[in-house]
Amino acid sequence: MAGSVSNAYIAGMGMYVPPKVMTNEDFARIVDTSDEWITQMTGIKERRHVEADVATSDLATAASKMAMEKAGVTPDEIDMIIVATATPDMFFPSTACLVQTNIGAANAFAYDIVAGCSGFIYGLVIAEQFIKAGTVETILLIGAETLSKVSDMTDRNTCVLFGDGAGAAILRPCEAPKGIIDHVIGSDGSLGSLLSLPAGGSRLPASHETVDKNLHMIYMDGRKVYVNAVKKMGDSVVQVLEQQNLTGDDMDILFPHQANLRIIESVAKRAKMPGEKAYVNIQKYGNTSAASIPLAMCEAIDDGSLKEGMLVGLVAFGAGFTWASALMRW
Ligand code: UT7
Repeated sequence: MAGSVSNAYIAGMGMYVPPKVMTNEDFARIVDTSDEWITQMTGIKERRHVEADVATSDLATAASKMAMEKAGVTPDEIDMIIVATATPDMFFPSTACLVQTNIGAANAFAYDIVAGCSGFIYGLVIAEQFIKAGTVETILLIGAETLSKVSDMTDRNTCVLFGDGAGAAILRPCEAPKGIIDHVIGSDGSLGSLLSLPAGGSRLPASHETVDKNLHMIYMDGRKVYVNAVKKMGDSVVQVLEQQNLTGDDMDILFPHQANLRIIESVAKRAKMPGEKAYVNIQKYGNTSAASIPLAMCEAIDDGSLKEGMLVGLVAFGAGFTWASALMRW
């Protein structure tokens, strides 16, 4: 493709969640918790878990096939595949390369990005740059996670929070005013240890000791992460609006990362927008990290909440720490 284009837009979306439902009552049988605590503190009622033989690329592949169908795009038309995930099938090859083979996108180049729960928006920003530069035309962006595989099922502080799923989007060029309008993106590695999966990499390679100490599972200082998430998500949604001389009133719908209903409510308040404009499906899926925003967008398309012409906001915060927000005209 020659020359540059004005904007990038989402031409179609897909999603996949595994069929196995884990309710709050199921967790109350495993750890010292209750439906009341989980509901009041997080808004989560249930989440999905994969079976033992299912990996992230399986979820990503199913979501991708749906996104291609919705966008009317064939596998050979895809130029680039980005998978945002913190739970890849393995260190290498990348999950994106595994998806490439599964869907038969032989003309694409493919790679993963690691930006925690902000991964989908990070990927969106990367995809937008490629499309605007005019170097690629059709991008498959996927947020996919199997967090149940790295959740310590004896730790009530974390195991009740996370779920598995995948959401995918096909991005293509378009004429303004449609498409991605602006973004804010940032990170602060100095706080990374507050939310991490400590072992398995080059710092702490897998050993009997790392397994015995549960270091291959998610560690989170929930309270400190909460405080930072409220601040950074609030700041970045306000900033992206201000960059465009807009306010929360102008935004028709906001897709916040689904980590905690109380965080979502605080962000909506900070953006001075009615709470109803923030799309919420955390009750069904829990925190699915990089998959949470595309899962929410996909459901909003399906239930009619996301309509053509709307001014759409996205905002996320996650491990790294990373944060990002974006505005687009749907
Ligand atoms: O996705 C990326 C980023 N992740 C997030 O944004 C998540 C951010 N964090 C949170 O959502 C919240 O911190 C949590 C929901 C995880 C926890 O809420 P909190 O208000 O920060 O509570 P806390 O961690 O301070 O815990 C309060 C109490 C503690 O008991 P004590 O020490 O006061 O006796 C915990 O042990 O709640 C206890 N607790 C539980 N009780 C029942 C923690 N987990 C559970 C549980 N069931 N599952």
